Amino acid sequence: MAGNEPVQKLSQNYVEVGEGGGSSHTVDESEETSRSTTSPRLLPPAALATASQSGSIEELARTVSGPDKAALIRDVSTSFDSLFTWDYEKGRREQLNHLYEKAKVSQWNAETDIDWSISGQIDSARDPDNPLNQLGSSQEGPFASLTPAERATIGHAGMAWTLSQFMHGEQGALLCTAKIVDSVPWIDAKYYAATQVMDEARHVEVYAKYLRDKLEWEFPVNVHLRDLLDTVLSDPRWDFTYLGMQIMVEGLALAAFGFQYQFSPDPLLKQITRYVMADEARHVAFGVISLKEAYRDLSAAEVRERQEFCYEAAIRMRDRFLQQEVWETLGMPVKECCEVLLHNPLQLEFRRLLFSKIVPNLKKLGLLDAGDGWLRQRFGELGVLEFEAWEDTGAEYERMQLEAPL
Ligand SMILES: [Fe+2]
Ligand SMILES: [Fe+2]
Repeated sequence: MAGNEPVQKLSQNYVEVGEGGGSSHTVDESEETSRSTTSPRLLPPAALATASQSGSIEELARTVSGPDKAALIRDVSTSFDSLFTWDYEKGRREQLNHLYEKAKVSQWNAETDIDWSISGQIDSARDPDNPLNQLGSSQEGPFASLTPAERATIGHAGMAWTLSQFMHGEQGALLCTAKIVDSVPWIDAKYYAATQVMDEARHVEVYAKYLRDKLEWEFPVNVHLRDLLDTVLSDPRWDFTYLGMQIMVEGLALAAFGFQYQFSPDPLLKQITRYVMADEARHVAFGVISLKEAYRDLSAAEVRERQEFCYEAAIRMRDRFLQQEVWETLGMPVKECCEVLLHNPLQLEFRRLLFSKIVPNLKKLGLLDAGDGWLRQRFGELGVLEFEAWEDTGAEYERMQLEAPL
């Protein structure tokens, strides 16, 4: 890699896939803000105002260890109200109904619609020219003296790690969306969420099969992803489940899938990613459409609580997924590897572009500018405000459906 060319190429190419029509939205909320004492805060208050990085290097280098790694079941305590609604009028919420009808005719079969006869996945992952390998390696620090064979192994492990985290995240989405079926008060949203549960089961299935049969390597859940999923799943408020999963986690995943679709040389992974992206675009749209209504009448304190939640989740997602388990498994120094990747220019640009879906969607919800623009200021510090004019997923999801060419 020379100079900034890979970063520019990554950014330019991604814009072609990810940038929508550039529609902008007026945000009408301008409430005064105040701090809620009930926020499920993940960082101390003092750190919140100035945090631009997610914890110490020791914290970033943490991995799942001990009994947690060996356990097959993880028990997350949660408590929320299961809501019946006796209002069965279908289509009262027109956009949700449209999404539901779309989902019903967009189901696919992970066993029969994917061409699993395509082979060569391990060779592709080990290929030094695979553009996706540039994101998980470096020429500095512990990476400086690696042999080509060792780099190839890192490529294989890195691809297995990334797709393993997708698989674990998909299971998180499966559990969160099942919870939304239970806890959301609107029949149109329950109907739609039920289709998403099926989508997520299919996504877990497809990544599990690819990892087991094609890459022949699988990694445990990244501890930071696990903590984030625990937080989202255990919050009793249904809108926090939506906000954490549909807006933040799936918003970031949608951007990451866009990279994978664009840059993966493996036709099988491209095919899988295309199918998954069509579903995920609907999922993010589901969050945007639902929360747009739910957030119309929030108090200033409630708005601020949600802004802080989004910011903390954003920081955690941006800085903490550094392939820690790969370095641990390969016997490399985890802390040093994380330190190098945390400051690698290509990685920095990649992580910034992961916000391309999140920012316009939070703007659409009014959370970017509500109150004193607390979140706008924080996102400005992260350098991701340029995405605010990009099309929100509530509008662009139809362009990402299977029948539409990307
Ligand atoms: Fe999914
Ligand atoms: Fe999803």
